[in-house]
Amino acid sequence: MPYYIQPQDVTKLSAWQALTEHYQLMKKFDMRQAFSENTNRFKEFSLEGCELLFDYSKNLITKETIQLLVKLANDVGLTQARADLFSGKFVNASENRAALHTALRRPYGDQVFINDVDIMPEVHQVLHQMTELVNSIHNKLWRGFTEKPITDVVNIGIGGSFLGPMLVSEGLLPFAQKGVTCHYLANIDGSEFREVVAELNAETTLFIVSSKSFGTLETLKNAQAARHWFFAQGGTEKDLARHFIAVSSNVKAAVEFGIAKENIFPMWDWVGGRYSLWSAIGLPIALSVGMSNFKELLAGAYMMDQHFLTAPFEKNMPVLMALLGVWYSNFFNAQSHAILPYDHNLRDFVRHLQQLDMESNGKGVRQDGSPLTIDSGPIIWGGVGCNGQHAYHQLLHQGTRFISVDFIVPVVSANPVNNHHQWLYANCLSQSQALMLGKNKQQVEQELTAKGYSAEQIEKLAPHKVIAGNRPSNTLVLERVSPRSLGALVALYEHKVFVQSVIWGINAFDQWGVELGKELGLAVYKGLTDYQPTPAEDTSTQGLINYFRNHHRG
Ligand code: F6P
Repeated sequence: MPYYIQPQDVTKLSAWQALTEHYQLMKKFDMRQAFSENTNRFKEFSLEGCELLFDYSKNLITKETIQLLVKLANDVGLTQARADLFSGKFVNASENRAALHTALRRPYGDQVFINDVDIMPEVHQVLHQMTELVNSIHNKLWRGFTEKPITDVVNIGIGGSFLGPMLVSEGLLPFAQKGVTCHYLANIDGSEFREVVAELNAETTLFIVSSKSFGTLETLKNAQAARHWFFAQGGTEKDLARHFIAVSSNVKAAVEFGIAKENIFPMWDWVGGRYSLWSAIGLPIALSVGMSNFKELLAGAYMMDQHFLTAPFEKNMPVLMALLGVWYSNFFNAQSHAILPYDHNLRDFVRHLQQLDMESNGKGVRQDGSPLTIDSGPIIWGGVGCNGQHAYHQLLHQGTRFISVDFIVPVVSANPVNNHHQWLYANCLSQSQALMLGKNKQQVEQELTAKGYSAEQIEKLAPHKVIAGNRPSNTLVLERVSPRSLGALVALYEHKVFVQSVIWGINAFDQWGVELGKELGLAVYKGLTDYQPTPAEDTSTQGLINYFRNHHRG
């Protein structure tokens, strides 16, 4: 029975016990003292590679901490787990599937087998199909029903069929090719639909229905609405093939919807939705930045894959990021993990990382079905800097909760304006520094005295100005946000999430938790709309349904 099916309570490992003892020592650890005693600390706890600088020196760690964490990674069988992930073993045990998003960025000539079938020819066939489509649209060869070229593409999809494509495209805005604008229709709220179509001309619009299952309510309802809109704008059934394509693993359902078979880009069950931007789900990215830049994105991810596969754990960025996350979640009781990009085009990047991390590791049982006794995936949140400094950084600096932080910042700005980028970069570094240094009571009192405050005023004000400090953060510095570096960054987080799932012994690739809401949704919908509805299971839901029925005039 493979390792990931065997009951694995990581807390029973001697490496976990050793970390528990080590924590007793480390809870008194002070980063400020560590930096003052060791001028080589940055050098010892930072890594360069894959067009990234990973500074993890501002963490509550010593060399011994890293050694103990790396031993944990070894003792949970990470080496074998990593090999199984890349080789197509069914690491997604509950769905009996592989998780081969890494295959999507492997070069020509590589082979990856599932049930003795090499999947790489089809992977590259789809890349070729994507290239054909992107080129025909960019070269104005693809014509709409009035023979006009396509100027706008609407991606109809939600979750992984939306977030990754949208946020990578947004991150790569400076690389956008002129001539094609991508829009995203995800939610079932009619306001979003109206907002998107308001600026569209049906003659020059292509809809991409992106749905691995081709069974997601929001996506199907939006696709139907888009088709009705298309007809209302003068399109006809015979024109659908020019204006609707699909990306799905459910070809039958896509054809039944009315998508021409030749317009369907295949997906596979061995690619999870939140890991699928590298597949044809990434068409909006390719249409935005061009196929050569899309292949640069793949190359960047491949570069990180090789680093993850080959670097020793103590010099392995995703492994170290994962271990630090376990150290804070499971030993320091970190309440959440904040990801703060100091880059306008990455302002919403955390939304993709939320699904990637929280839908992968928001689990309560191990792969063998046994209940977890420790915390698994953290709450991932964040937002763009400097804006966060004027919104929630107060809590990070003086709040009562232990929250670890990743700062992300490029050296080169996509849009230099005077010395703005130097200030942006300075703010990013100073926030990380302030979290670590803080300001103690003596420093506050000296500062207030120098400003002429009286002893009485100082005694009153000082406690409010003290900042505890000693709060950890990682800083990821990109040379610039490019297709290659962004591909590496996304893959870094994918592998971090995977490593944590192996340590906790959970399945990062299923998402059974989202099923119940969908099931209950149908009963509530009927409660809202049926003439003689069946009473709801509980009086809260029934009360809320009644309020709707009494106030809705739709
Ligand atoms: O949230 C559940 C989920 O299945 C995600 O994992 C997925 O990315 C999203 O819904 C959309 O699924 P599909 O691509 O099958 O429409």
